[in-house]
Amino acid sequence: MVKICCLGAGYVGGPTMAVIALKCPSIEVVVVDISQPRIAAWNSDTLPIYEPGLDEVVKECRGRNLFFSTDLEKHVSEADIIFVSVNTPTKTRGLGAGKAADLTYWESAARMIADVSKSDKIVVEKSTVPVKTAEAIEKILMHNSKGINFQILSNPEFLAEGTAIKDLFNPDRVLIGGRETPAGQKAIQALSDVYAHWVPQDRIIATNLWSAELSKLAANAFLAQRISSVNAMSALCEATGADVAEVAHAVGKDTRIGPKFLNASVGFGGSCFQKDILNLVYICECNGLPEVANYWKQVIKINDYQKNRFVNRVVSSMFNTVSGKKIAILGFAFKKDTGDTRETPAIDVCKGLLGDKARISIYDPQVTEDQIQRDLSLNKFEWDHPVHLQPMSPTTVKQASVVWDAYSATKDAHGICILTEWDEFRNLDFQKIFDNMQKPAFVFDGRNIVDAEKLRQIGFIVYSIGKPLDSWLKDMPAVA
Ligand code: NAD
Ligand code: UGA
Repeated sequence: MVKICCLGAGYVGGPTMAVIALKCPSIEVVVVDISQPRIAAWNSDTLPIYEPGLDEVVKECRGRNLFFSTDLEKHVSEADIIFVSVNTPTKTRGLGAGKAADLTYWESAARMIADVSKSDKIVVEKSTVPVKTAEAIEKILMHNSKGINFQILSNPEFLAEGTAIKDLFNPDRVLIGGRETPAGQKAIQALSDVYAHWVPQDRIIATNLWSAELSKLAANAFLAQRISSVNAMSALCEATGADVAEVAHAVGKDTRIGPKFLNASVGFGGSCFQKDILNLVYICECNGLPEVANYWKQVIKINDYQKNRFVNRVVSSMFNTVSGKKIAILGFAFKKDTGDTRETPAIDVCKGLLGDKARISIYDPQVTEDQIQRDLSLNKFEWDHPVHLQPMSPTTVKQASVVWDAYSATKDAHGICILTEWDEFRNLDFQKIFDNMQKPAFVFDGRNIVDAEKLRQIGFIVYSIGKPLDSWLKDMPAVA
């Protein structure tokens, strides 16, 4: 029986390994992590992450050929294939701080693999890493090996949260990079055989190591660039009376451009886009390519601009001050169908409003109060470290309360900011909400999900990203 061990039971390691176990009953898959509470949660009825369809997959294979454990050394030493899916945060200090990837967790995983291995292994980079990481990992493994043969493969993950199971069942492609030697090609074949249990052969792409590593950073940069492009257009739409949805539709009809990923928003969030682009920027700078670095940096700058622009719009519309006013925040997760809040634009919007002394009341169907308070009190990039290494009890942000439904969040509020596109926000009883709010009552729709005309008929002043402005808003222009 082939044995797989995965280091890192997070958003990638957990779902990816669960799907491999489901699709390959003849393979034993063990997911290990240094975080004891995380493993305990994977072994419980309440999984540590919310992902549609995940519970069913885990229930079907856990205890059969899928296991979660904290005994890293045992399972690594027994495995034939080791996936490494640990955190690769942005460095917060030292050389490359604020940009470069911090490979501390990766390096310690590699050292442990070298220490405990007694047989040949295929080590698979599943985490997103800087191009050429495999070379460094190879050095660590080879330097410590006792005649053991390690083959390094790069097999980046392209799943998106909220659709992880769907993406894993039916990936656009599986990318496997390896050494161009007979042993390297054999390793690529071994990993390809795992995926071939359910992925059509023509979607399994083999490349060299560096192409695979770089393709992951490139794919995320291209995706984020589309959002920054449409968000940049949204500012121009508001200034000119064009409608960003109509522009995106017209542009996306060109088959060379395509319709996906053109939804203007309050800004992109998530654990990877910003981190991976900053990483790409740093690699470009290190390779003497400042023009290329600056080109990609602009994608992040437009995203920051979009979040600031939203906060400024809220404040300027409400007589240039939100001090002491209650603002309801509907949605805190970085997108719908996930409880993940990493780099969610809601953090920057809330901090911006709190900076102007607003009182905010937050409701998200999947995010806990503890998580929200933690997010509002952590410093930039601190979140991307194993949970047990983060501050234990975050300081509570007094001006932010967290409630358990949209109606309490909006009661007596002066304004509402919609920051996540949860389906339930489309069907709220806005008449009831309006009746219970201070007047004039504002809705700032950061996801363009409400029917603005309907809300205007109720009496709301509505702001939608990149749409022709309400006359009220036109008279109160926001400074970008
Ligand atoms: P995560 O924080 O959810 O999970 C990482 C896990 O690794 C944590 O549980 C942590 O405790 C564990 N860990 C850290 N060091 C360890 C060690 N030495 N041994 C064992 N476990 C260790 O992160 P994630 O979202 O799963 O991301 C992991 C990697 O995958 C990152 O490089 C990320 O860029 C990449 N990625 C993420 C996504 C996504 O949607 N989240 C998608 C594609 C790629
Ligand atoms: C993204 C990529 O889509 C995955 O392919 C990749 O594997 C993953 O990053 C990663 O490397 O971590 P994810 O961040 O989970 O996945 O979610 P996305 O659906 O890409 O959304 C990212 C952000 O962009 C969200 O805040 C979302 O609301 C926003 N977005 C997305 C827009 O504002 N407009 C759009 O049109 C699409």
